[in-house]
Amino acid sequence: MRIRLLLAMLFCTAIASAQPEGVNAHGGNIIKVDDTWYWYGENRPYRGFTTEVGVEVYTSKDLKSWEDAGVALAVSEEKGSPIERGCIMERPKVVFCQKTGKYVMLFHLELKGKGYEAAQVGFAVSDTPTGPFKFLRALRPNPGKWPANFSKKDKKKALALKQSDYKDWWTEPWREAIKDGLFLVRDMEGGQMSRDMTVYIDTDGKAYQITSSEDNLTLHMNELTDDFLGFTGRFIRIAPGGQNEAPTIFKKDDTYWLITSGCTGWDPNAARMFSAKSLWGPWEQHPNPCKGPGADKTFGGQGTYILQTGEGFIFMADQWNPRHLRDSKHLWLPITFTADGKPQIVKE
Ligand code: GAL
Repeated sequence: MRIRLLLAMLFCTAIASAQPEGVNAHGGNIIKVDDTWYWYGENRPYRGFTTEVGVEVYTSKDLKSWEDAGVALAVSEEKGSPIERGCIMERPKVVFCQKTGKYVMLFHLELKGKGYEAAQVGFAVSDTPTGPFKFLRALRPNPGKWPANFSKKDKKKALALKQSDYKDWWTEPWREAIKDGLFLVRDMEGGQMSRDMTVYIDTDGKAYQITSSEDNLTLHMNELTDDFLGFTGRFIRIAPGGQNEAPTIFKKDDTYWLITSGCTGWDPNAARMFSAKSLWGPWEQHPNPCKGPGADKTFGGQGTYILQTGEGFIFMADQWNPRHLRDSKHLWLPITFTADGKPQIVKE
């Protein structure tokens, strides 16, 4: 067991120092099918912020040398399509659905010409890992639903909030109202916002999307249907008002660990960490897991995925270059554990 763990850690360290260059796949994830790794991510232009190509996929046998396998999900040339060229596709995550035998992609979608106001989740599906994925739909999760971790009293309190009383953001009363569900109630009819996101498949095969909701102020964990192509309507809020983005998650032994960033756009900030014994919470916050010079800025990166390789875990992050997003670098670091079992990301 120990040797396996050590090997996994050594493997992670080797991978971490071999940061892949020139891979135009950002904000994405990696899956393994048979003996091949598939790396999905945002194909970003040299200039500008909109999606002109789609989601790119690369393949590798060793996680070190990568081959471009083309566009997994292409933007549409059709005017008015939700994924029309010029939309914004971010943080794509591909998972395999055991039940249907299909590869499913979820991603953050912003509609063309609408900035970041749509805050939707896109769904696409494919029979093969390289695609082409077929776009199915885009939506906001959970219209008309209350979070599973909201009591009757919480609902009453949230419903009593008047939007017009909180026109000014960032005041103390506004912060309290946000925690109590001001924006949750605001968006209840049309569905909850969903921006930075990841997808996690639990050990029992059930899948969840974890996303930055309520104007990036509160995380939501949304249960997916058995075919992973929609939401069941069951969800919880995590860290209300905590301003978390870039969610990444893994499970070790009986604990789920969630590592996120703060909200400073393309600029790096200090990572945050939460743990829970059940995905449904309660989630407890811990100090920043990063250690070493630059730890207060996640070493210039922002998390996108935690990749499990055998017994080891790799924290995958993007070092964004907003002037030329295509040239944003990849930072991969092994997750190790302190003597008391807490994850840490160390860079000397
Ligand atoms: C970041 C976010 C990125 C992207 C960017 C746009 O905070 O993590 O995925 O949305 O903002 O400014």
